[in-house]
Amino acid sequence: MIEFLKQKNLEVKKNHLFIGGCDCVELVEKYDTPLYVINKDTIVQRYHSLKNALLEHYDKIEIHYAAKANTNMSILKLLNEEGAHLDCVSTGEIYLALKAGFAPEKILYTGNNYRDDEFQFALEKGVMINLDALSQIKRLVNVLDAVNMEKPLISFRVNPEFGGGFHDHCITAGPDIKFGILDSEIIEAYKKAQQYGFTKFGIHTHIGSGILDISTFKVAAQKYLDIISKIKKNLDIDFEFIDFGGGLGIPYRPSEKPLDLNEYSTSILDLFKKKIEELNLNGLIFSIEPGRYLVAESTIILSQVNTIKETRTKNWIGIDAGFNVLVRPTMYGSYHEVVVANRVGVKGKQLKYEIAGPICESGDVIAKDRTLPKIEENDLIAILDAGAYGFSMSSSYNSKLLPAEIMVSNGKSQIVRERQVYEDLTHHQHFYQDL
Ligand SMILES: Cc1ncc(COP(=O)(O)O)c(C=O)c1O
Repeated sequence: MIEFLKQKNLEVKKNHLFIGGCDCVELVEKYDTPLYVINKDTIVQRYHSLKNALLEHYDKIEIHYAAKANTNMSILKLLNEEGAHLDCVSTGEIYLALKAGFAPEKILYTGNNYRDDEFQFALEKGVMINLDALSQIKRLVNVLDAVNMEKPLISFRVNPEFGGGFHDHCITAGPDIKFGILDSEIIEAYKKAQQYGFTKFGIHTHIGSGILDISTFKVAAQKYLDIISKIKKNLDIDFEFIDFGGGLGIPYRPSEKPLDLNEYSTSILDLFKKKIEELNLNGLIFSIEPGRYLVAESTIILSQVNTIKETRTKNWIGIDAGFNVLVRPTMYGSYHEVVVANRVGVKGKQLKYEIAGPICESGDVIAKDRTLPKIEENDLIAILDAGAYGFSMSSSYNSKLLPAEIMVSNGKSQIVRERQVYEDLTHHQHFYQDL
């Protein structure tokens, strides 16, 4: 377990869990629970180790951070400062990214089922658009005409009909998946775009999320590159970039191995380089768009035990973070390691526990069947690997207040998002009048 904690840049001193050089017990005394704690240095490390692994094999690479994993503006600012590009899936994400300092030309907007005003927003901001369906080109052209703009670079999301991922909801390619354009329509898509007067092109795919098996990426990459061959051979197109999407997994369980970055980079870039040489597409940009890989392991949630209960066959711990704060266990049955942050590694009686949140639903269980030291009220539970799809999928269900987020580094901590207050619950609401 200590080795697993080390992988996540977590330390244990005098039986307390430390993150970014800060004692979790002291953080809670200062900021209360539930609390998201983001280790700045882990994000920087993950970004540079991935970038360096790719640069070993090819020099024109871009890492587009998939903002959906975590749109905290300090994380966006940090990754921008480190040199990342960005993948946004909504105009809201674009808005936050621009506020955090990203240059619009570093953003690729991969929306799904776009509205006209979303096209207009992205075009006016100067963000690249990645279309997700053949039928969307005409609508994009209508918007361009309405705002009297030149044709920008355009990209299409390909569905190579081979996906992967840790849960059905996270597999984003396959014969009957809502995302992307199938092989059977992709040539028509680029042809139409040429006919409408577009001259600069990119191409994109994203097959799913939470993938630790590199062979899945390899099979998809080969299918994707074969589709790119077909496009190139049928139409005279020189792509500016080929984007292989995200999906790089992280070990949520101590039994799982971290992704071998060298093996990942070698496998995908060998296929890529062979193909671009064959097609005479030299010098174009290779991009990927990881979300989870860059931020998941940076963050823990600290939550306090307030209730101990036994049912017929189980021991229960009640904590103050439920699926309002971290929905992944309820939504996907996901596993998150938990640690008793104020008593790490203490010897003594161990029991099996179910850990439940405060939400009024039986499904509000954060962790099941965990062996922990005998828990007492006020113990502090740390939920690991909560940096991706944690806060970004949180909600105010049950009118719970959203937690605070703090960032830590070198023994210092700072609030990067205030805890909600009751007034936030009434914000933007109006009582009806004379209806
Ligand atoms: C288009 C696109 N790119 C990238 C990602 C990032 O995936 P991950 O966080 O698994 O790397 C997603 C996630 O759903 C996505 O939809």
